[in-house]
Amino acid sequence: MVTFFTTFKQFFVFLPERFDLKAGFQRKNSMNEIIEAVNRAAENAEAKAAVAADAGALEALRIEYLGRNGLFPELSKKMGTVPPEERKATGTAFNTGRTRIQAALDAAAARLGGAGKQDKDAIDLTLPGRRTAPGHRHPITQLADECVSVFRRMGFVAVDGPEIEDIYHNFDALNTPDDHPSRDPKDTFYFPDGRILRSQTSPVQIRVMETHEPPVRIVAPGRVFRRDTPDATHGMNFHQIEGLSIDKGVSMADLKSVLQTFAWEMFGKDVKIRLRPHFFPFTEPSVEYDFSCVVCGGKGCNVCKNSGYIEIAGAGMVDPNVLKNVGYDPEIWSGYAFGLGLERLAMLRYRIPDLRFLYDNDVRFLEQF
Ligand code: DAH
Repeated sequence: MVTFFTTFKQFFVFLPERFDLKAGFQRKNSMNEIIEAVNRAAENAEAKAAVAADAGALEALRIEYLGRNGLFPELSKKMGTVPPEERKATGTAFNTGRTRIQAALDAAAARLGGAGKQDKDAIDLTLPGRRTAPGHRHPITQLADECVSVFRRMGFVAVDGPEIEDIYHNFDALNTPDDHPSRDPKDTFYFPDGRILRSQTSPVQIRVMETHEPPVRIVAPGRVFRRDTPDATHGMNFHQIEGLSIDKGVSMADLKSVLQTFAWEMFGKDVKIRLRPHFFPFTEPSVEYDFSCVVCGGKGCNVCKNSGYIEIAGAGMVDPNVLKNVGYDPEIWSGYAFGLGLERLAMLRYRIPDLRFLYDNDVRFLEQF
């Protein structure tokens, strides 16, 4: 058996690319024989790789030459049989041969469109595409749009106004007395040239009436600026929506119905509104308006400070002086105006305890909207 096995193995010794250590002819493994075998193997592998038809054929080649039981690992075993002084040259030839084969396999893989490389590099067309998160509009912008669409359904048109204003539009034309505290540089941001960052959206009323004949019916959402110390309910810039309706025979009842409808649209049919007498320079009479507390339903809680109501903003009948300032005849035209704070509305709507959350730009907060 042993004899047969040995003989059998010897048979393979004479195949061009096969050597066998245990076959009793180790001493014949001269440097030249190994180098020759390596070069021949490289040539053969290159020739086969060049015509390989598909990834499977390439993989078979790789296994044949470089695989664990392939030709090259087998050849490398023979290195040990080479006399020490010849080992360096044999090793170099061996490495060159292996590099040639690998290069031939890579080139063939590239020719086959990368498919010859293993699956880890292949493109899997069945995978879903990678999505980029596009982001979305800020909650205040979303809320402003929602409010505007509610008012639009009641016949209001949305308009824009400048954030950098002049004193005339922000104060004078709005009938604001010279000594009114809101004009103080401690409250309003002044530029060196005397212009200001608008402290309210009310100047948009003036700009619309200056350029449009009555009747007008507008809402103006926008950013306003005040010198406040930021805390849970105050910021240096925040957002308002201004409303103005001028026509013949407009009354406080119209104002009330518009605000009630708005409250219903925003918070549902159970919410009530309440008007309280107040003072604004540009309206007469003036009111502050409250929504019944949307948290406790009016019973009293810490959000409404046990009053059952939450202040939303100011409103009133447009002061005849304001109408005169824009050239409208107060004997013919009358109207109401209102202004509401969007941050306050957002806090109630989404139960946000601190408005600074809205501006910290923490996506964990923002992505909830
Ligand atoms: N501009 C006022 C403010 O910022 C809000 C306001 C009150 C607007 C009454 C109005 C109004 O149009 O009639 O506090």
